[in-house]
Amino acid sequence: MAKKLQKAQLCIDRDFEISKIDERIFGSFLEHLGRAVYEGIYQPGNKNADKDGYRKDVIKLINEIHVPIVRYPGGNFVSGFNWEDSVGPKKDRPRRIELAWNVVETNQFGLNEFMEWCKKANTKPMMAVNLGTRDIDAAKNIVEYCNIKSGTYYSDLRIKHGVKNPHDIKLWCLGNEMDGPWQIGHMTAQEYGMKAGRAGHIMKLVDPSIETVVCGSSSLYMDTFGEWEKTVLECSYDSADYLSLHTYYGNPEDDTPNFLASNVAMDKFISQVISICDYVKAVKRKNKTINLSFDEWNVWYHSNEQDKKLEKWVEHPHQLEDVYNFEDALLVGSMLITLLRHADRVKIACLAQLVNVIAPIMTSDTGAWRQTIFYPYMHASLYGRGTVLNTVVKSPSYESKHGDAPYIDSVVTADDENETITIFAVNKNLGEDFELTCDLRQYAGYKLVDHIVLTNDDLKAVNTEKKPNAVAPTEGKNTKVEKGILTTVLPSKSWNVIRLAK
Ligand code: AHR
Repeated sequence: MAKKLQKAQLCIDRDFEISKIDERIFGSFLEHLGRAVYEGIYQPGNKNADKDGYRKDVIKLINEIHVPIVRYPGGNFVSGFNWEDSVGPKKDRPRRIELAWNVVETNQFGLNEFMEWCKKANTKPMMAVNLGTRDIDAAKNIVEYCNIKSGTYYSDLRIKHGVKNPHDIKLWCLGNEMDGPWQIGHMTAQEYGMKAGRAGHIMKLVDPSIETVVCGSSSLYMDTFGEWEKTVLECSYDSADYLSLHTYYGNPEDDTPNFLASNVAMDKFISQVISICDYVKAVKRKNKTINLSFDEWNVWYHSNEQDKKLEKWVEHPHQLEDVYNFEDALLVGSMLITLLRHADRVKIACLAQLVNVIAPIMTSDTGAWRQTIFYPYMHASLYGRGTVLNTVVKSPSYESKHGDAPYIDSVVTADDENETITIFAVNKNLGEDFELTCDLRQYAGYKLVDHIVLTNDDLKAVNTEKKPNAVAPTEGKNTKVEKGILTTVLPSKSWNVIRLAK
């Protein structure tokens, strides 16, 4: 007898839009940390590197994803970084003790190399300034170095360094995780808010066309969460355009249902931060709305024990090298759905990070490969373009430590210009398939293009250099559109992308 299917339903209306998607929601992050930069994107002399030392095999994989922005150079690293160390002749650049990650930074890859790499990787920078050990003057100077054409000290210094045209960097992070006691130069909300306000002000005097991101909480679970956001915005509202959020989840207790429900907490985090932004807007009688930059999000826990054994003061060790398994890919898919469902306020997001360090892409001296989480990230970036529709998901749910978690997470995006619709869906049920239906009669003439499925019997399956395709997408079989009603089967534990076009 055929196994009974669980049932779920998607309800959409063509006119009920959440928002146009800002493509920067599919951003990523490269920090001077571990082998992200050195041996990740930059490895002079490697057989896969171009004449300038940039890894071509890595750029090829990044291009598969279409990464619109990359946050750089940190992360915790930025709070002890002197940007001036990283420009000019390489032989004169100082080797520095790097106190965020207890290593040595050689500065052989720096600001101008990153900007050159961005062009090759077809992406744009999201540059962070150091508000930990440095003051607003250094923040002003880096904007002058990057964005002023010529005729001033720092713009002429850039030209002297061989970069004739300004970099014209539009997006700037004012420090990193300044609420965290681990952060170099950690401050109170009041201290940071005042400093960020002054930094943003002076940076915008240099270039009024830039946008700034002020630090929100490092996670929903910080003791200062809430008060931090409120105070920071009260102090910096006029200089700020976005407020940041960071979050990482893990499954050290091997409790998959609770782990897969983590995006319920992410959803709550986003909603609460929106409320605080709007509260400050109201009490300050402002017209400007502060939007959100979820500029660090991912799964991170696999490498924690290994990293405790690291030797200090070495150059780019194997650090934060999480090997992602199949269940991590499911959660990353659900987190992407959560971000898209908030596309009206989340305008920027960065999967942390991009290469080798808690990353979708891994390298060795001999090659580069895709981790499991590469796939949901790539699918969302390629096909989650256009507009997010308000997607009501009728699905049974389960109790989790984060609250009620629907078995089916889903969101629908529509691109009217290209006449396409995409359904993203995760089935978190570990034992049962779901029949999913969606009434698409408003989209007359749209036909099924494909149904991509990422599923695996083994929740702990991983991709490695030797077995790079252990977890890889396949084609779904049971999807049809009849008389405008889409019917499909979402296998137990699966990430699904269903694409339709006219
Ligand atoms: O992405 C790794 C680290 O996580 C970043 O440096 C920091 O901002 C966060 O705590």
